[in-house]
Amino acid sequence: MNLIPKSIKGKVFIFIGTVATLSGLAVGVYTYNEEIENAKTASHERVRLILSFSKAISEYVREVLNPKMYELLGKYTCIKEDFILEAQSFAFVTANIFHRVSGDFQGLRLRQVAFNPLNPQDTPTIIERRIIKLFKERNLKEYTEVVSINNYRYLVSAFPVRVDKSCLRCHGKIKDMPKIIRNLYKPKQDLNWKVGDIQGGIFIYEPYEATLLQARLDGILKGGFVFALNILIMGLVIFILNRYVFRPIDILKEHAEKISKGEIDEKIPIKTEDEIGELAKAFERMRVSIKKVMDILK
Ligand code: HEC
Repeated sequence: MNLIPKSIKGKVFIFIGTVATLSGLAVGVYTYNEEIENAKTASHERVRLILSFSKAISEYVREVLNPKMYELLGKYTCIKEDFILEAQSFAFVTANIFHRVSGDFQGLRLRQVAFNPLNPQDTPTIIERRIIKLFKERNLKEYTEVVSINNYRYLVSAFPVRVDKSCLRCHGKIKDMPKIIRNLYKPKQDLNWKVGDIQGGIFIYEPYEATLLQARLDGILKGGFVFALNILIMGLVIFILNRYVFRPIDILKEHAEKISKGEIDEKIPIKTEDEIGELAKAFERMRVSIKKVMDILK
């Protein structure tokens, strides 16, 4: 079976149709992929920015706020408390500031975890254990990857938490802990963190699945639009070709057939000044000449 039509019109239309569809598909798919790649990059940047802020907060509390508070607590003995959770625990401050941030970034989660934690909820999950192990083995300062939890993908970014001497007051032996910590968390045994160890990590989770889903929807819309635009342009080209080339040729053909059958009275319309117009003019001259000869013969 021969699929290629005989007529030039058919060949041209098939050619334009194929080129437009293929290029439309290629550009459409490219646009779709681009949309997803952009969303991934934006997601990575967002999560790393938030991680960086969390890190800055924890460092500030550790290095500036906490020593300053100890200095003041030592000076003003009228203050009964020996430790102020709201200002001295970086985990507490980070969690609270993050809580406010997550109001603006739906679905974003922060987890501060450690082996032998004060708060049992801060026990590392299997994924977190694996990443903390990576921190230890490769001495990484930061780590980002996509993880799947209950078939839902998250982008997780984390940095390690290293123990220094100051941590042992609350994360060492029960007898050293401030009263308020002992009362609040009621630890059953000494936590015994060791100075220099990477004890845990701060993890930021971004709902990647939702980001990707949104990117896919946007990609389908944008890619589909590009594809539709290609098809529209193809339609327009076919319409113009048909209107200005193929249709006038058909009309000329009809007239030529009539002349060949002896119907020579009908004037051939000349509508344009282009090549087809010239052809129509030549046909019209031919018709007039034939008509003259026929009249003489009558
Ligand atoms: C004076 C008390 C105090 C000191 C000192 C302290 N922390 Fe904490 N830390 C806390 C409290 C309280 C929590 C629990 C917050 C919560 O309920 O989530 C906590 C929680 C954490 C957590 C989350 C895991 C867990 O144990 O619940 C990490 C990680 C952590 N601290 C790291 C450190 C490091 C590292 C240092 C030393 C630089 C340090 N902390 C010093 C009071 C302290």
